[in-house]
Amino acid sequence: MAWQMTQLLLLLALGASAWGTHLRTPQDRTDLLNVCMDAKHHKTKPGPEDKLHDQCSPWKKNACCSVSTSQELHKDTSLLYKFNWNHCGKMEPNCKRHFIQDTCLYECSPNLGPWIQQVDQSWRKERILDVPLCKEDCQSWWEDCRTSYTCKTNWQKGWNWTSGINECPVRAACHTFEFYFPTPVDLCEGLWSHSYKVSNYSQGSGHCIQMWFDPAHGNPNNEVARVYAEAMSGAGSHGTGLLILNLVLIQLWLFG
Ligand SMILES: *[C@@H]1O[C@H](CO)[C@@H](O)[C@H](O)[C@H]1NC(C)=O
Ligand SMILES: *[C@@H]1O[C@H](CO)[C@@H](O)[C@H](O)[C@H]1NC(C)=O
Repeated sequence: MAWQMTQLLLLLALGASAWGTHLRTPQDRTDLLNVCMDAKHHKTKPGPEDKLHDQCSPWKKNACCSVSTSQELHKDTSLLYKFNWNHCGKMEPNCKRHFIQDTCLYECSPNLGPWIQQVDQSWRKERILDVPLCKEDCQSWWEDCRTSYTCKTNWQKGWNWTSGINECPVRAACHTFEFYFPTPVDLCEGLWSHSYKVSNYSQGSGHCIQMWFDPAHGNPNNEVARVYAEAMSGAGSHGTGLLILNLVLIQLWLFG
């Protein structure tokens, strides 16, 4: 009798978890795809922006940034964040273009949903964490910036903001990027408090986010976000199934 009961309940649990999988997965997946984070300058929803400026133009078919944001972020010490790239003298143009591209990705990409996290910050409600950046994007960023100068390893905190723009704190001396960021990983992961995680995958693999891409072949990050969203919501449903099974087993133990 008890054995039959167990079988019946297990069957119910499996049924419930299968039902849960079907009901939940598409819902979770769409929540992670084609979304804009809730931050300082993002639009509420992605959409076409025909006139996106210069380096942000690859996102014009579908973007989280407005035209004015895309224009402003190409300027030195832009009004967006009053952040000065030239805090230790002029940043080389070949280096600066990577920071502009990084900002275009951050402001414009509708594909960062799988890595959006809530934060308790005055200027934004959400951030990105551990976005798998393609290894070439990080490598070329680091190589092109080796000879420019900076005074800090984490650019998200610790600046002296008394003048209204970021200045090096008194005890932070200016040295080459190579001094503060000995490896590409130090740069790409350290710079913005782990917004990026350097991927071992290459551009075109479909498994890492590209900062640089040729829009003639569409946005390769659409597919990357889909792959990660699927993996993440799959794990979620599996977890739900196990939870239901556990609840049933606890019931059996209590009442059996
Ligand atoms: C911050 O910068 C101001 C000048 O803009 C300077 O007077 C002050 O000493 C600096 N403070 C620190 C802690 O670096
Ligand atoms: C990364 O890829 C390289 C070659 O593609 C391989 O030799 C290495 O073991 C990989 N590292 C990790 C951590 O997967």
